[in-house]
Amino acid sequence: MVEGYSVGIDLGTTNSAIAAVTGDEPEIIPNSDGERTTPSVVMIDDNDETVVGQAAANQAVSNPDRTVQHIKRHIGDEDYVVDIGDEEYRPEQISALILTRLLADGESYLGRDVDSAVITVPAYFGDAERQATRSAGEIAGIDVEHVMTEPTAACLAYGLQETAQSDDAESHDKRHVFVYDLGGGTFDATLVEIDLEHNHIEVQNTDGDRQLGGEDWTQRIVDHLADIAQEEGGVDVAGDHEQEQRLYDAAVRAKHDLSNREQTEITVPYLGPDYNLETTLTREEFQDLTEDLLDRTVDNVDELFDRADMGVDDVDEVLLIGGATRMAQVADTVEDYFGTEPLRSVNPDEAVAMGAATQAELMSSGGDTTADDVLPGDEDLLLVDVTPQPIGIELHDGTFAAVVDQDEKVPIEESDDRFTTVMDDQTGVRFPIYQAPPRRPRTTPNSARWSSRASPKRPPANRPSRSTSRSSPTGP
Ligand SMILES: Nc1ncnc2c1ncn2[C@@H]1O[C@H](COP(=O)(O)OP(=O)(O)OP(=O)(O)O)[C@@H](O)[C@H]1O
Ligand SMILES: [Mg+2]
Repeated sequence: MVEGYSVGIDLGTTNSAIAAVTGDEPEIIPNSDGERTTPSVVMIDDNDETVVGQAAANQAVSNPDRTVQHIKRHIGDEDYVVDIGDEEYRPEQISALILTRLLADGESYLGRDVDSAVITVPAYFGDAERQATRSAGEIAGIDVEHVMTEPTAACLAYGLQETAQSDDAESHDKRHVFVYDLGGGTFDATLVEIDLEHNHIEVQNTDGDRQLGGEDWTQRIVDHLADIAQEEGGVDVAGDHEQEQRLYDAAVRAKHDLSNREQTEITVPYLGPDYNLETTLTREEFQDLTEDLLDRTVDNVDELFDRADMGVDDVDEVLLIGGATRMAQVADTVEDYFGTEPLRSVNPDEAVAMGAATQAELMSSGGDTTADDVLPGDEDLLLVDVTPQPIGIELHDGTFAAVVDQDEKVPIEESDDRFTTVMDDQTGVRFPIYQAPPRRPRTTPNSARWSSRASPKRPPANRPSRSTSRSSPTGP
């Protein structure tokens, strides 16, 4: 029996990609529309039939209540559901529909079953989001061999490309690569040490924002257009999903246009009964509208270097990953920050899926490729990740005590933290485990728990929020 294929999948907020190693190298698998990426958009009709990809995106204007976009922004939120008709869908079910389409395209292209995959997630995703991503794969009927971080996958693709240029191991000095990854919905800043002589890719530090991506830049244009419509035409689009979707589509086009041009014309006919929106947006205006968003990415990079053992000047190479790095101001800002031009040779839309496909092939029992076939060193591939946010327990007084700090290399075998019971003759201990966001302090809950740190070393931290959110399907 021929073993099924193992593929790499970049499950993105706005676009997804699938790749597989065929022959000696990973290749992107085009979808049935002939495209190399597939919009992460799902439409579920009233007969429960689903449409995924460009066709779903195309009908979003006319059918906003049955169209789901940007679901990755909610993955791992256990209280979030999307209401479509009388049905409720959890984020992992929607993500599974996207995966099912990608897998079907993969099987028809490869002419074989696909039974396992490596799926990528932002490095800054916590455990809940990673587990939910894994569940999405399982709902789609595949074995998820590994949930790999997107910057690590991109670095692996970079390593493969370097190898293709010269496979002499000795010529591949250890180097520090900084990955600035701004996708549709997430931002990851990652410092990676790449040692191609030994096939080691080790993340050193990571920072980022799970709720910051190119879609926020789009939303600023949407808000700007909505203000113009209000002022000029007295038209209020708030709550009108169809008109909101039309503004969103116009805003995306304008944003992409401004990556190549200094100004763009925006036209949205019949936004109101007798109102056509017509305006011009310059690159400078766009940059002003979104300056604070770019600053937030710079703050994340600053914080990373505050913790890192090395400085900005020690970075050898800067990789730009994610479609939103095409915005002129992003590349300029990164170049100014590092004083060096970012590398342009790694494809920002495809590198993540290519790296994941390579890892899938190396991990799959059916594959006969080993690391020394694709990388210059003769050792097994070693990928080391770090914990993006501290993991710890809740103490009896409701405070959070980190046991695994941010940026600790995983897996962690042992911790020398010691905790004690709080009462004499105590027979049990309850210790809820949290992965806490390191920022956004919140007041700690006042729940009585049964454990206490023997010698508290760190200040009380925050606890993750669990707010109930329910939303209309569309919109970021
Ligand atoms: N030419 C361009 N100019 C500006 N922005 C662009 C351009 N092309 C794509 N984008 C933006 O890049 C974002 C999508 O990037 P990408 O496909 O890398 O994200 P993703 O993988 O879906 O998201 P994430 O990695 O955050 O989950 C969108 O916001 C899109 O509008
Ligand atoms: Mg992405």
